[in-house]
Amino acid sequence: MPSVALARNARPATRQPLPRVSLLPGQVRPVLSGEFHQYVEHMLRLDAQSRLTRFGGPTSDEVVRRHGERMRAGGVELIGYFVEGVLRGVGELHMLDVPAGQPVSAEAAFSVEREWQGKGIGSLLMDRIVSLAQDRGVEDLAIIFLATNGRMQRIVVNHYGELTRAEDEMIGHVHLPRRQSAMSFIRHLVTASLAVVDSAIDLQSRMLPPAERGN
Ligand SMILES: CC(C)(COP(=O)(O)OP(=O)(O)OC[C@H]1O[C@@H](n2cnc3c(N)ncnc32)[C@H](O)[C@@H]1OP(=O)(O)O)[C@@H](O)C(=O)NCCC(=O)NCCS
Repeated sequence: MPSVALARNARPATRQPLPRVSLLPGQVRPVLSGEFHQYVEHMLRLDAQSRLTRFGGPTSDEVVRRHGERMRAGGVELIGYFVEGVLRGVGELHMLDVPAGQPVSAEAAFSVEREWQGKGIGSLLMDRIVSLAQDRGVEDLAIIFLATNGRMQRIVVNHYGELTRAEDEMIGHVHLPRRQSAMSFIRHLVTASLAVVDSAIDLQSRMLPPAERGN
């Protein structure tokens, strides 16, 4: 029987951004469809422990590649953390099919490569996924993770999520107020356009000699 470990969903599902992240070299932006191969490459680079906690068990390269194909076909939306054009962390938003009359629901998942963990990137990706979910009209955002995953638990708690534990697994539910508006639609168009510009600038700066890159 699952037990509810925390229920603070009367509070808003947002919080102040982490100042330490602004000191990091990467950029957070949507992963463009032409960059989807980077998602699979990122997953394949995860160390054994991170891959285990991301997928909830040991997962072969072949299974990771098949997972990537399923995700692409399923229309997952990705927010990435890019360092010099390489995807080092990702937040995923999967819309769920729910019967009419039920709350609009989605599932989120996160992964950050070992070298970049513990620096606030997972929290930042969660902020952006929560915002994206709100723009998609999501009311119930679920995050499934192993009960031993202290960082993921902390991220959910920081977003006032309700935690339910069942055996080795935990499910965090972040309840979101409705925010689907013309303004949020426009903001997404702008964010998507900026992602194209950011990726072009990033590529251009990486083509310059190191002394001229300005970082
Ligand atoms: C889980 C994961 C996405 C978190 O990302 P991250 O960038 O490492 O996490 P952050 O640096 O943002 O830290 C998140 C919070 O955990 C806290 N934290 C750090 N180490 C911790 C630990 N060992 N135990 C508990 N909390 C911890 C941080 O202080 C931070 O909380 P705060 O913002 O209140 O200070 C990342 O570690 C990862 O990819 N792990 C492997 C894949 C995975 O487990 N995915 C989750 C399944 S969906």
